Amino acid sequence: MTGQLPSAEVFIATSLDGYIARPDGDILWLTSRPVPEGEDFGYAAFLEGVGAMVMGRESFEKVLTFPEWPYTTPVVVLSRTPGRVAVPEALKGKVRVSDKPLRAVLEELGADGVTRVYIDGGQTIRSFLAEGLVRRMIVTLIPVLLGQGRPLWGHGAGDVDLTLVASRSWENGFVQVEYRA
Ligand SMILES: NC(=O)c1ccc[n+]([C@@H]2O[C@H](COP(=O)([O-])OP(=O)(O)OC[C@H]3O[C@@H](n4cnc5c(N)ncnc54)[C@H](OP(=O)(O)O)[C@@H]3O)[C@@H](O)[C@H]2O)c1
Repeated sequence: MTGQLPSAEVFIATSLDGYIARPDGDILWLTSRPVPEGEDFGYAAFLEGVGAMVMGRESFEKVLTFPEWPYTTPVVVLSRTPGRVAVPEALKGKVRVSDKPLRAVLEELGADGVTRVYIDGGQTIRSFLAEGLVRRMIVTLIPVLLGQGRPLWGHGAGDVDLTLVASRSWENGFVQVEYRA
C-alpha cells in the first residue's frame, strides 16, 4: 500500500463529564438542546475537504435510526465481526464494514485520494488516539452532567499530548476546543 496517510480528525460533542451518549446510546440530551438560529458550531466548515468517514459499529447503528442517512462521503464502519453488521441495501456502495488495522484503513482511504478522514464514535476515537493516528480534534462541551454514559475519554485512549489551536464559546453555553495532536 503506497497511499499517503490521510489526516484523521475528530468533531464531536460531549457532556461536561465526558460522555457522548447515555448508557443506552441516547443522544436526545444533545440533539434536543436549543441552539442559536442557523448555528452549526463549525460543522460544515469542518466537513469541507473531508473525503471519508470512519465510525464504530455502535455509532453506525445509531445513525441508521435517523430519518435519513446524513453523510455524503464514503463511510467505513469498524467491527471486529464485520459479517454480523447489516448494511441496508440502499447504503451498499456508500458504506463498507472493516476489521482491518486502523492504519491500514487510513492507508486504503489515502490510496483512494482521501486526505482528511472524519473519525466518529467514542471507542473508535480512543482506538485511533491510542495508535497515535489522530491529527486534529474539535470537541464541543455541552453544559450538562450526565453522571453516566458512553465515554469519550479514558480507557484505551493512551497518553496523548495536545496543542490547543483555538477555543470558542456560544451564548447557549456550548464551549468548543480545537486541538492538534
Ligand atoms: N456526542 C456525539 O457527538 C456523538 C458522536 C458520535 C456518536 N455518538 C454516540 O456514541 C455512541 C457510540 O459510541 P461508542 O463509543 O459506544 O461506540 P463506537 O466507537 O461508535 O462503536 C464501537 C464499536 O466499533 C467497533 N470498533 C471500535 N474500535 C475498533 C477497532 N479498533 N477495530 C475494530 N472494531 C472497532 C467495535 O464493533 P464490534 O462490537 O462490532 O466489534 C465496537 O464495539 C452512540 O450512542 C452514538 O449515537 C455521539
